[in-house]
Amino acid sequence: MSTRLLLLLLLVNAAIAWQKCKTLPGDPSFPSPDTWASFAKNLSQPLVSNQLPLGAPCHKTSPAYDPQACAAVTAQQFSHTFLAASPNGIQWTNYMELVANDTVQQCVFDPQPDATCYQGRVPSYSINVSTVADVQHTIRFATTHNLHLVVKNNGHENLGRMFGYGSVELFMHNLQDYTFTDSFVPEGAPSGTAGQTVTIDSGVQWGTLYSLASQNNRTVAGGIGAGGTVGAGAGWPLGGGHSILSPYYGLGVDNVLQFSVVLPNASFVVTNQYQYPDLFWALRGGGGPNFGVVLKTTFRTHPNPPYTAAFYAATASSNSSYFQLLETFNKHHNSIADSGWAGFWPFQDQTLYLTLIAQGAPTFNTTANSTLQSFISDSAAIPGVNITLNKQIVYSDFEDWYYNNFINSTNGFGFNYTVGDAGGLRITVSSWLIPRDVFDNNATALAEAWMGIPASLLICCHSLVGGGAVAQGDPDSAAVTPAWRTTISDMTIANAWAENATVAEIQAIKQGVYDQIQPLRALAPVPLGGQYINEPDDLEVDWQGAYWGRHYPRLLALKKIIDPNDLFIVYKGVNSESWDANVVCKTLP
Ligand SMILES: Cc1cc2nc3c(=O)[nH]c(=O)nc-3n(C[C@H](O)[C@H](O)[C@H](O)COP(=O)(O)OP(=O)(O)OC[C@H]3O[C@@H](n4cnc5c(N)ncnc54)[C@H](O)[C@@H]3O)c2cc1C
Ligand SMILES: *[C@@H]1O[C@H](CO)[C@@H](O)[C@H](O)[C@H]1NC(C)=O
Ligand SMILES: *[C@@H]1O[C@H](CO)[C@@H](O)[C@H](O)[C@H]1NC(C)=O
Ligand SMILES: *[C@@H]1O[C@H](CO)[C@@H](O)[C@H](O)[C@H]1NC(C)=O
Ligand SMILES: *[C@@H]1O[C@H](CO)[C@@H](O)[C@H](O)[C@H]1NC(C)=O
Ligand SMILES: *[C@@H]1O[C@H](CO)[C@@H](O)[C@H](O)[C@H]1NC(C)=O
Ligand SMILES: *[C@@H]1O[C@H](CO)[C@@H](O)[C@H](O)[C@H]1NC(C)=O
Ligand SMILES: *[C@@H]1O[C@H](CO)[C@@H](O)[C@H](O)[C@H]1NC(C)=O
Ligand SMILES: *[C@@H]1O[C@H](CO)[C@@H](O)[C@H](O)[C@H]1NC(C)=O
Ligand SMILES: *[C@@H]1O[C@H](CO)[C@@H](O)[C@H](O)[C@H]1NC(C)=O
Ligand SMILES: *[C@@H]1O[C@H](CO)[C@@H](O)[C@H](O)[C@H]1NC(C)=O
Ligand SMILES: *[C@@H]1O[C@H](CO)[C@@H](O)[C@H](O)[C@H]1NC(C)=O
Ligand SMILES: *[C@@H]1O[C@H](CO)[C@@H](O)[C@H](O)[C@H]1NC(C)=O
Repeated sequence: MSTRLLLLLLLVNAAIAWQKCKTLPGDPSFPSPDTWASFAKNLSQPLVSNQLPLGAPCHKTSPAYDPQACAAVTAQQFSHTFLAASPNGIQWTNYMELVANDTVQQCVFDPQPDATCYQGRVPSYSINVSTVADVQHTIRFATTHNLHLVVKNNGHENLGRMFGYGSVELFMHNLQDYTFTDSFVPEGAPSGTAGQTVTIDSGVQWGTLYSLASQNNRTVAGGIGAGGTVGAGAGWPLGGGHSILSPYYGLGVDNVLQFSVVLPNASFVVTNQYQYPDLFWALRGGGGPNFGVVLKTTFRTHPNPPYTAAFYAATASSNSSYFQLLETFNKHHNSIADSGWAGFWPFQDQTLYLTLIAQGAPTFNTTANSTLQSFISDSAAIPGVNITLNKQIVYSDFEDWYYNNFINSTNGFGFNYTVGDAGGLRITVSSWLIPRDVFDNNATALAEAWMGIPASLLICCHSLVGGGAVAQGDPDSAAVTPAWRTTISDMTIANAWAENATVAEIQAIKQGVYDQIQPLRALAPVPLGGQYINEPDDLEVDWQGAYWGRHYPRLLALKKIIDPNDLFIVYKGVNSESWDANVVCKTLP
């Protein structure tokens, strides 16, 4: 045998040795029904076995075929609440589907009884978690049987990481307890460190938590989704967590004082700045479920002052007046922020909207009104710009503002965040974190970048969620990208497609969204800017740098220690480089 051939054989063998795959349903070594039944006895709730996709009752070939059940599920297919509470549902339908062999394998809701209902990325087993032991038993079972374990909370994640091909699911949504206290002491902390906090279970949602906080005359810095279904206790803080209250109180990770978590080796630990500080650092921005399964999160709570809200809308009659409107806003952006305003500033169809809040009534910062008025009068002077809304309203507290604009918006103003607020869509998103320097120095170039974004892209919400307390945070205190500390606004876009789109059409839509973000990135490349891990671009190449900047090497080293068997690997998650996109086979050492 020639040396060259020998070498080739060795290489081929090495490649085969490294092709290490998780065990999927249908594989000979996948647990048998008896093994599952014996495992189920260890759980506090019935095991959901052989789980089918939500649309299964609509298909004749499915064992679940039932036209009445089909009608019932079809009626709820766009409901965030329904999708959050279903172990086989997530908010974005495309992540229930599998793109394989150049086709989209899906299980549609429409009455197409003869169509095949594919399992797609829907987990075939769900563990309906209600205890720590449920998580520990599942982790041990999944490790023993080499299963593709995924973790779903309320299902809003934008890259489908909570589901997966051939997966088994820890379903966290039903964990809904909470406790407010005025005297929280982190475990292991020196005495005298008590603070006002709320400790929530993984599944608690922001809409619920805002209302509870208000009843306790406190506020919690949290995420904003119309309807309030975004989870507060897992994906949001693990990814960083931005809030319209962040300029006053910091990012989600700046407000977390403690997590209770089950690690990949099934140990249950309570972590904070005093216990497992490296783990605590990694959890605050390293992304779910990279470092374990969170059961409880303790957030600082804050005072509950009234808020002054400003609503503004202006329509431009031509491209050039629209450009001047956006450029003018960019120039005023930082002084508006510095005087205490936070909020959203979506623009679409030649119209710029402002949905801003400032603390206090009158505003605590006495310059807040004049900085905003200065922008408004400059915008009024632009030929072709017509201001159609300019109003200030006082709300008794944050919840009052949130409820009247994002839950029951009948009394809201300006950009209507509840219109078209549906789950059950097929979407792709992208984002870029814009540093304040870009608004100071590149207002014109930034407006040119805005002008390039087609009005048809979904634009909710370009968010003024940085500066202030976010900028005061130590960039190395948590795993989130240090770019967050110089970010002032977060730019998000999204696009959607229909159920009959082809793989090529979907790819073109993803490419379009990716392309629209590149001019922003050019103004603030990594490490100056970055991408929010909870608003991730499917096509992002340098996801390590974009999500974490210089923190990635430390995260990777910790991941290898805490999850040496790659139990919780997710697409574009820490240490996922050597796995295929489905996180089923490890293709490199
Ligand atoms: C309408 C809408 C509005 C949004 N608004 C905001 C906003 O204002 N601010 C903001 O910062 N973000 C916002 N987001 C993004 C949001 O933070 C993420 O989608 C987040 O991941 C949602 O978490 P979830 O609880 O719904 O969890 P899921 O989508 O179920 O899970 C999120 C991720 O965490 C993992 N995970 C789930 N449970 C656990 C657990 N218990 N332990 C460990 N890992 C777990 C999952 O595997 C997944 O990777 C919004 C998203 C949507 C769709
Ligand atoms: C059930 O739990 C017991 C006790 O922890 C454990 O020994 C056993 O292996 C578990 N069974 C299965 C099938 O996971
Ligand atoms: C793709 O096609 C190959 C070859 O026909 C087949 O073995 C494989 O199972 C298919 N993959 C999926 C996910 O359908
Ligand atoms: C999960 O368990 C909860 C109790 O914690 C129960 O109310 C719910 O119906 C269960 N869901 C499923 C899908 O079994
Ligand atoms: C609620 O808190 C605010 C300050 O955060 C305080 O001014 C107000 O008096 C409190 N209201 C009640 C009813 O205690
Ligand atoms: C009030 O706003 C001005 C900018 O208009 C800012 O310089 C100042 O720091 C703000 N004061 C407080 C207390 O935030
Ligand atoms: C803000 O400024 C406008 C315009 O000068 C004025 O009409 C309004 O009363 C001011 N509002 C407050 C709360 O000071
Ligand atoms: C400006 O907007 C208002 C309110 O929508 C409308 O009535 C008015 O006609 C508009 N004016 C111009 C010049 O477009
Ligand atoms: C929403 O608010 C309107 C106006 O205050 C009220 O009439 C309506 O009943 C509210 N709807 C709900 C569901 O609370
Ligand atoms: C916003 O849209 C909702 C319907 O989604 C409607 O009930 C509400 O009245 C609208 N609010 C405003 C301010 O237009
Ligand atoms: C952005 O601003 C910086 C500093 O003023 C300048 O050097 C750079 O050329 C600007 N970039 C663009 C694209 O305008
Ligand atoms: C997809 O469905 C839409 C209606 O929802 C239809 O207008 C369009 O022609 C369909 N496209 C293809 C490629 O079948
Ligand atoms: C589990 O992992 C953690 C973090 O790596 C480690 O500190 C702990 O000792 C491990 N526990 C066991 C029982 O191996």
